[in-house]
Amino acid sequence: MRSPEYIEIFIDGRAYLLIRNSTVAAALLNAGITHWRRSVSGQPRAALCGMGVCFECRVNIDGHAHQRACQVLCTPGMRVITHVE
Ligand code: FES
Repeated sequence: MRSPEYIEIFIDGRAYLLIRNSTVAAALLNAGITHWRRSVSGQPRAALCGMGVCFECRVNIDGHAHQRACQVLCTPGMRVITHVE
């Protein structure tokens, strides 16, 4: 059995190692980040549906706003910014 391949990404400027082909949402949760944006009323938000429908998991990825963290696979050197509305 092959061991998993790890890659490095940056979440809010901090480096994290994770298994290649993890979604960004999985990477955030694995990093201990349980919410990464707020609703218009200030409630904490994170992945809800996990299948690209609810848009609750939006983050900034490599300078692109409103990317669904549950639908994007991590790539080496990816830069994820949370709490950007
Ligand atoms: S968790 Fe619903 S779109 Fe990502």
